[in-house]
Amino acid sequence: MAKSTILTGLRTNADYHLGNYLGAILPMVQMARKHSSDYQINMFIPDLHSFTTPIDFDTFYEQSIRNLKVFFAAGLPLDNENVRVYRQSHVTAHSEMTVILNNFTSFGQLSRMVEFKEKRERIDEEFVSVGLFDYPVLMASDILLYDAEYVPVGDDQRQHLELARDIAERFNNRFGETFVVPKTIKQQAEFFGIEEPLRIMSLQNPDKKMSKSIDDPNGTIMLFDEPSVARKKVMSAVTDSVGSVNFDRVNQPGITNLLILLAVLCGKSQEEVNKEFTGMSQYGELKNAVADQVELLLEGVQKTFAELDDVRIMEKLGQDELYANEYSQKTLLKVQKAIGLRK
Ligand code: TYM
Repeated sequence: MAKSTILTGLRTNADYHLGNYLGAILPMVQMARKHSSDYQINMFIPDLHSFTTPIDFDTFYEQSIRNLKVFFAAGLPLDNENVRVYRQSHVTAHSEMTVILNNFTSFGQLSRMVEFKEKRERIDEEFVSVGLFDYPVLMASDILLYDAEYVPVGDDQRQHLELARDIAERFNNRFGETFVVPKTIKQQAEFFGIEEPLRIMSLQNPDKKMSKSIDDPNGTIMLFDEPSVARKKVMSAVTDSVGSVNFDRVNQPGITNLLILLAVLCGKSQEEVNKEFTGMSQYGELKNAVADQVELLLEGVQKTFAELDDVRIMEKLGQDELYANEYSQKTLLKVQKAIGLRK
């Protein structure tokens, strides 16, 4: 039997930010390092998802490659056959599977997707695309085509993962065991060694998640920010007037965000970090500790990025896209047979 898969994807409409890194890239790189001998590791660029929010079409192709390179700059092993990278649009089964799975997804459930509702509100134009509405089904295809059991993502993708599970179960109930159903969020969190998926908040609006689509440059740390600029963003993070450090999401969201950032950046437990800082009356010390870690991280990622072997990466991408096409076609065929499109 084929190995099961740990898989994640990150959209490519712009450079990645710290939320993307901590919520998905870092956990995936850790999984790749830990589990590449017993699991298939797939990290891909969902480039067809990019059109759901505004992008620069002129630079889009290069931006996708640049983002793919960030995976390796962040430590994804390059010379490992169990680690695969690909672009969604280069693997046609993703689109075909989506057309099929659309018919096993209810309009009502898609209408309740929080990300859809939030993004819809943020789009100033009248034009809300069907692509934005339907993208969770494309995401379900991305996952189910590769028998993925574990999908490291940030908290904002939680509902989409539930949808993928629902679609798989609905299909299996009707046609027999066809899809591997991804593990529950709780089982996944246990496997990743975390309490729950991460949600890094904006440094300027700690009630909103850090996001590239919000016009919030000072609240968002981009992985290609000058490290000294990133430091300034951390030092000017919005906090509160309580005058004492506490882990309290409701009353001290800014401080809590910094405590979370510090724990993940240092690889320490939240309890350990909280113990160290709780009760401190000066916020500067906490900010400095976070700023040091952020600077260190950006310097490291940017240095490794500059030294990457582009030729080797493009070679790998070509090979892995062949692999992804071969693998996904098998799943697609199973589904086509189940529903009577193929004999
Ligand atoms: P996307 O491209 O918006 O975000 C990529 C990843 O980054 C995480 N993330 C965050 N994590 C913590 N704090 C934040 N502030 C933060 N902002 C973003 C996201 O949760 C995500 O894990 N639909 C997906 C991409 C996708 C995908 C897939 C993921 C397409 N197909 C299949 C997994 C499996 C998306 O738009 O994420």
